Amino acid sequence: MGTVSTKFDSSGDDGARRADGEADGLRKAAHLDICIDEKQFDVESGSSGFEEVRFLHRALPEVSEPDIRTATDFLGHPVRLPLFISSMTGGSDHGYNVNKELARAAQACGIPVGMGSIRIIFRKPEVIEHFQLKRYAPDVPVFANIGGVQLIEMDHNVVYEGMKRLEVQGIAVHLNPGQELFQPEGDRDFRGIAEATARFAEGSPVPVLVKETGFGIDPISAHMLLESGAQYIDVAGAGGTNWVQVERHRLSGAAGEAAEEFRAWGIATAPLLGALRALGVPGERLLASGGVRNGLDICKALALGAHSVGLALPFIRAVHAGGYEAVTELIGRYEKVLRSAMVLSGCVTLGEFATATLLTSSAFREQRDALIDAGRTVF
Ligand SMILES: Cc1cc2nc3c(=O)[nH]c(=O)nc-3n(C[C@H](O)[C@H](O)[C@H](O)COP(=O)(O)O)c2cc1C
Repeated sequence: MGTVSTKFDSSGDDGARRADGEADGLRKAAHLDICIDEKQFDVESGSSGFEEVRFLHRALPEVSEPDIRTATDFLGHPVRLPLFISSMTGGSDHGYNVNKELARAAQACGIPVGMGSIRIIFRKPEVIEHFQLKRYAPDVPVFANIGGVQLIEMDHNVVYEGMKRLEVQGIAVHLNPGQELFQPEGDRDFRGIAEATARFAEGSPVPVLVKETGFGIDPISAHMLLESGAQYIDVAGAGGTNWVQVERHRLSGAAGEAAEEFRAWGIATAPLLGALRALGVPGERLLASGGVRNGLDICKALALGAHSVGLALPFIRAVHAGGYEAVTELIGRYEKVLRSAMVLSGCVTLGEFATATLLTSSAFREQRDALIDAGRTVF
């Protein structure tokens, strides 16, 4: 599990903590290399289920395109679009450059931006600069990131102090038990995360959102998290980046073959959103991500009841291909699709769009209903 500072400062660094910090940085850099090299590394698997959902096209929309309103809020702050850049990187030089480009694009487009886990700054404090995205995105919400499993052992005041230094508007607590199990150095004990997250949320100076990392948050866990103080849930479901497959590229032999068996693991994002809304999770607390790959996927997630929609892999690949310009271009494309789909569904506001009529396949309804059944005991 490694060593974490109980003090947020670089004095008194012990060798073990620094070594853990170096290992964190190398691992994050390797993840980034794997995720951007589409030709060599296959990191996506399964289906997010958005292809099982269609909008009811309105031949007479009775809507004027310039009237469309896409502005909303994120973590209580106004934003221009219901879209966010998911938590990704920091802790390596490459990660720092990626963060700068993402933050500049977020600022230009008026959308929120996340960052990768800040655990490394408590082990290797000089890399805090990699996470100071506020310099590049002063007018949009910026949110930090930390692992739920780390909250069990860390001094929460140290994390709050780091968050204050980064001037963030929120923090995402990530759940990634699948990935940890396939990291040779990963955590193996996942007891107590909900309780630690509840304690953390209670003292947090900014809102806490809890996210998965590509396998989805099942209804029972979502209920536990919402009851224990998480203000927002980002389902981060299956169908996009699969972190066991990312780890597979760093494994060999039987461990790699075991990872291969988890290609189809996880809860597809689209039916999961449908189930959580049907079970009564308030739309304003529900965020969507995981396998969102185009503008229409964003629209479908919104119409399934998510407040805002996040993407990770498409943005990191856009940075790699063309830096800040490619990211802003991609966001521009998503905006065009969103505005057009709102018109063609006869909706002017995001509130109307959240209840747009959807035509769903029987496969979608089967999965959604099974998830609703799985959550009935707690909701
Ligand atoms: C290069 C890369 C690094 C990531 N690092 C983090 C991280 O540090 N913390 C986290 O919560 N999620 C991390 N994620 C997971 C994403 O936030 C997201 O939940 C997941 O990739 C699924 O979304 P996607 O299918 O759009 O990629 C990372 C994703 C990528 C592609």
